[in-house]
Amino acid sequence: MNENLQFLRAFLKNPGKVGAIAPSSPELAQIMVSGLEPDRDNIILELGVGTGAITKFIEPILPDGDSYLGLELDPKLHTSLRLAYPNLKIIEGNACDAYKIHKETGLGKVKYLVCCLPFVSLPRHVAEQIYGQIDLFMNDGCTLRLFQYAHGYYLPPALKLRERMRNLYGKSNRSRIVLKNVPPAYTLTWSTI
Ligand SMILES: C[S@@+](CC[C@H](N)C(=O)[O-])C[C@H]1O[C@@H](n2cnc3c(N)ncnc32)[C@H](O)[C@@H]1O
Repeated sequence: MNENLQFLRAFLKNPGKVGAIAPSSPELAQIMVSGLEPDRDNIILELGVGTGAITKFIEPILPDGDSYLGLELDPKLHTSLRLAYPNLKIIEGNACDAYKIHKETGLGKVKYLVCCLPFVSLPRHVAEQIYGQIDLFMNDGCTLRLFQYAHGYYLPPALKLRERMRNLYGKSNRSRIVLKNVPPAYTLTWSTI
């Protein structure tokens, strides 16, 4: 099935969890992966893989399949991802359990946390649980990169997320606005390395 249609279907079934009507654009994906240098001891963990719009740009920078782990909650999206990325470890799982899931895989340390989750539309208690997981990775030394849509940038959950991260990890590094994305977005990066 066409990637956009598959994504739209997932959105219509679960708008709050998917949080966007279209997959990330190549322009946004490129910025999401820029500067990342994973290897099997310093892996990328992608939270909320979706249809793989960002994974498509992660795969070419991986030295091997053991340098990456993906988590996707939606079973249908996960099934398609397994077919599209047979060399990558993509688990059907909840980002609320990300730290434990990563430990169980035996893969290397998470150096890069590529987070594609729609925090603005997730229930607050779920978002809080995921922040707790992010903290565990950040405490081990990690770079967190996420995107926020421009139209929701000043909504309370988006402001709270940035305030929380700023208090814990300092000022973020924000990208230019990526206009070639539906909807336009910024990427934000914090690092504890
Ligand atoms: C905004 S979409 C991003 C998809 C893709 N990475 C992209 O950029 O196009 C968010 C994705 O996160 C997934 N998701 C939502 N909550 C999740 C959770 N708790 N754990 C894992 N994945 C989750 C959704 O199913 C959806 O595929």
